[in-house]
Amino acid sequence: MAVSMIPLFLLPILLAGFRPSLAQTCLSDTFSSNRLFSSCNTLQYLGAAVHWNYHPDNATIDVAYRAPISSNGWVAWALNPTGQGMMGAQALFAFSGSDGVVRVYPTAISTLTPDVKDGNLSFKVYSKSGELSNGVMTIFATLELPGNRTTVNQVWQAGPLSNGSPSQHSTTGDNIKSSGSIDLLSGSVSGGGSNSRQRRKNTHGVLNAVSWGCLDAYWSHHSKIHEGFADPALVLSPCCLSTLSIYCRSCWMGHWS
Ligand code: HEM
Repeated sequence: MAVSMIPLFLLPILLAGFRPSLAQTCLSDTFSSNRLFSSCNTLQYLGAAVHWNYHPDNATIDVAYRAPISSNGWVAWALNPTGQGMMGAQALFAFSGSDGVVRVYPTAISTLTPDVKDGNLSFKVYSKSGELSNGVMTIFATLELPGNRTTVNQVWQAGPLSNGSPSQHSTTGDNIKSSGSIDLLSGSVSGGGSNSRQRRKNTHGVLNAVSWGCLDAYWSHHSKIHEGFADPALVLSPCCLSTLSIYCRSCWMGHWS
């Protein structure tokens, strides 16, 4: 009996272990005006997340970039069509002016001391706006996809204002790790992001495997007892085998989640 209870004891512990990461995903973000985004990534650095809708018919994306902002600071999110870091980034800076109005300034970065103003990017910006709420800035924009690509390099950043204008961010720690790429179609990322869609599939797979594996083991143990076999090996081997097989099946099923 003691052996049969082990998997059941493990289940809540494993479930509890998953909860914090699920709670932190971008999937729970909501937006004003009932805006909805079909994909998102929780970015690994600067507490940021990026959400988007990809429109293949006209090669555009609707983006929402959300990140904490300091009281006298700026945040920015950029596509970089020509490189991987800051240089070449086509950035959308957002900050609050002295009048309290949020400004969103598209700025193409070609030097280490960019002149941040309401300029043009190397691709079309069809719309842009920003919302500041409780120390969190959200940048909304609709952008033309450079070169109609579906895998794009992204860079994001946060820094201070000086005399009301964005000035240099920290050049250590997370502030120099905040770049990577996104596959807009699959939602998969490289660099400082984690793919919520993929993580949801993996979690689905693992949870299914553990739950069904434990149920299988429990059931199999009781079958053996009724047949007069109480050898723990007879219980644990079906547990391991069924967990493995169910993990594979669940991951495959995860394609549909
Ligand atoms: C006022 C605006 C900005 C200034 C003055 C500034 C300045 C700098 C400087 C001096 C460095 C160090 C370069 C080095 O050590 O080689 C740096 C690095 C970096 N910056 Fe900026 N930056 C600004 C805006 C931005 C923006 C808007 C982004 C992204 C959207 C960004 C992303 C990065 C990243 C990721 C690095 C790490 C090195 C790299 O990947 O290029 N910066 N920045």
